[in-house]
Amino acid sequence: MIARNPRLSFEAALPHWAPDHAFAQITNAGSTSLPAVETYLNKVVARAGMQVRDARLARDIAQFCAQEGNHYRQHRLFNKLLYAPYPQLKSLEEELHADYARMLAKDSLQANAAYCEGFESLGIIHAEFFFERIDDLLQGADPRLVRLWQWHLAEEFEHRAVCFEVLRALGGGYFRRVGGYLRAMRHLGRYGKRVSDHFLATDRAAMDRATRAASVRLERRYRARFMRFALPRLLRVLLPWYDPRRRRAPRGAAELLVTLERPPASAS
Ligand SMILES: [Fe+2]
Ligand SMILES: [Fe+2]
Repeated sequence: MIARNPRLSFEAALPHWAPDHAFAQITNAGSTSLPAVETYLNKVVARAGMQVRDARLARDIAQFCAQEGNHYRQHRLFNKLLYAPYPQLKSLEEELHADYARMLAKDSLQANAAYCEGFESLGIIHAEFFFERIDDLLQGADPRLVRLWQWHLAEEFEHRAVCFEVLRALGGGYFRRVGGYLRAMRHLGRYGKRVSDHFLATDRAAMDRATRAASVRLERRYRARFMRFALPRLLRVLLPWYDPRRRRAPRGAAELLVTLERPPASAS
């Protein structure tokens, strides 16, 4: 596992970076959560790392933090484009940051690690969806945003076992894991819905009636499509024998990561 940096910049990128703007905005809502979520993940696993005796897991934790650090920094560059057109975003993000500060202050390290593992379980479901199920939605999309999400989700798949192993190392069993997973799903589901509702409501305020109705249809269709795909996979995480290490790699994810690995200058 290594941390790659695609060094993307988003000058003149648009919130509506894919032809299906409902898909783009729901995905953007996810992007806005990441600076808060992934800085929180890094704090939790770094704290856990101080208690872990396994040298391999300690190395994986260091790589995990490096990957997540690159992820939220790149997403933050894109997210900046969204503050001017969507004025409520800043306060919604601040609420999310405050939630994590509260969780870090009040909850046990094991409970926090369980939430992190819950988030990571959701990440690999999104990775499979993005790499394998939405080629039609990505046709004509801004390649920088496609690359951002492909890189991010491919690394999510790559480091999928770290929080699972951290939670185990902290003594967290099945009920702890599932509790953290349900909490992460509810918490981030609610955040994502509030942000995407704000984005889409703001867009629709400037639309005529027919365009607005079409936008509502697109949103319903996209949400239903994602849920049809995700539901069986979300349920699978509840199984006592769920183990992210056994998950199949999304098609094309490993190949994409290879394209981001530049050999050191001395290697030629
Ligand atoms: Fe990430
Ligand atoms: Fe992750």
